[in-house]
Amino acid sequence: MIIRYYSRTGNNRLAAEYLAERLGLEAREITEAGRTGERDGLMGAIFGTMFGRRPPIEDMPDEDRDADALVLCAPVWATQLPGAVKSYLEEYSPGHVKLVTINQGNRNKKARARADEVLQLKLPKGTARLSDLSSYRAELDELAERLNGS
Ligand SMILES: Cc1cc2nc3c(=O)[nH]c(=O)nc-3n(C[C@H](O)[C@H](O)[C@H](O)COP(=O)(O)O)c2cc1C
Repeated sequence: MIIRYYSRTGNNRLAAEYLAERLGLEAREITEAGRTGERDGLMGAIFGTMFGRRPPIEDMPDEDRDADALVLCAPVWATQLPGAVKSYLEEYSPGHVKLVTINQGNRNKKARARADEVLQLKLPKGTARLSDLSSYRAELDELAERLNGS
């Protein structure tokens, strides 16, 4: 099992890092090729996602191609996973995909369709960036326990 994440405002990074610590794994970030920081190329990434673009991404470990299960922490943009995440899934095609996603929790249909399992964590109304994970800890702990036993 591997943990990978994509994050632009830090929410899904927090979830990935928390789960990684609980599971004794390393969370690695999926990013567009050449991206220099959280905000770099963000508008282009959002528009590209809406128009179905699959941007080139930074290389990920070769082991990802053989992973039996992927815990994927990622946002939803306009109902779908960010283009870079789709590029990753298509290029590395890991096994069973468990999507853990912190988002607004309203329009997530296309993102869900990409995963075998989904843990949906809803952002509090009016919150863009979480300061901590306190409201999701029970759900993340329960997931980590289940994954530890599987
Ligand atoms: C352009 C844009 C579109 C979004 N579209 C959706 C959406 O369709 N459904 C949803 O539930 N959340 C949506 N969100 C909310 C994000 O998924 C949410 O802010 C997420 O926590 C960001 O994750 P990050 O901090 O890991 O980057 C959207 C956010 C942005 C910036």
